[in-house]
Amino acid sequence: MKILVLNASPKGKNSTTVHTALYLQALYPEHSFTFVPVGQRIKSYEKDFTPLRTELKKADLLLFTYPVYTFIAPYQLHRLIELMKEDGVDLSGKFASQITTSKHFYDVTAHRYVEENCFDLGMKVVRGLPADMDDLLTEKGQQDASNFFEQLLFSCKHGLFVTPSGRAPRREKSVYQPVIPSAPKTTGKDVVIVTNYDQSDENLQNMISDFRAALPYESRVVNLRHFPFSGGCLGCFGCAVTGKCVYKDGFDEFLRK
Ligand SMILES: Cc1cc2nc3c(=O)[nH]c(=O)nc-3n(C[C@H](O)[C@H](O)[C@H](O)COP(=O)(O)O)c2cc1C
Repeated sequence: MKILVLNASPKGKNSTTVHTALYLQALYPEHSFTFVPVGQRIKSYEKDFTPLRTELKKADLLLFTYPVYTFIAPYQLHRLIELMKEDGVDLSGKFASQITTSKHFYDVTAHRYVEENCFDLGMKVVRGLPADMDDLLTEKGQQDASNFFEQLLFSCKHGLFVTPSGRAPRREKSVYQPVIPSAPKTTGKDVVIVTNYDQSDENLQNMISDFRAALPYESRVVNLRHFPFSGGCLGCFGCAVTGKCVYKDGFDEFLRK
């Protein structure tokens, strides 16, 4: 089977998670594994998706490997999924599964997020392996990894995959109109509404407008979409040591203020 390992960790070849896939590659030489450090290449795929599209088309199985970051997946994986959808590459009928490492804090949510996106792309989803970050160092963890892979191969061979629980029906967009009259405002509190909306997100904008109208204080809106981020979190933990982000885009200062 042609397996494409989409390594979405920003750590690239130093990722803990990708080592589980490397371990499986060593155990199962009869299968072909191609590793792509998508987490590190995400900016180049924004410019040109062709190299990744070629790899995606060749694969029988996409294996997403990534760390759980802040209760879900790293930014780099979110962006990858957006790019795959924007490109329109046909992945329907291909198998998809995933390996994460984490401390199991919301790994369930991360797995669901990837599964749901694979359903959107018409893929056949096989449940993934939510490993602990130290698992590969133990015999039990190694056994869990090979059991997962055996199960995955069996599922692909016999066409056993997760079926989506149902899709919300398509419907016309309806736009909520602000209705709340402006309450008198007092000073003394600095209320900041942190948001991320696009100009077409009228409902969110109108809800914010109502919220601000009802609020008895003056408020400011900060739309994160306008901040020129240099990139997604690299998980370097530099901030834990110095309080500063390694990126020089000024976001740490902006966040504090
Ligand atoms: C910024 C950051 C956020 C994290 N958030 C979570 C989390 O929400 N839940 C969790 O269980 N582990 C979390 N972790 C731990 C990572 O999932 C764990 O270290 C993982 O094994 C790293 O894998 P990698 O080396 O493949 O990138 C976080 C780590 C970092 C650096």
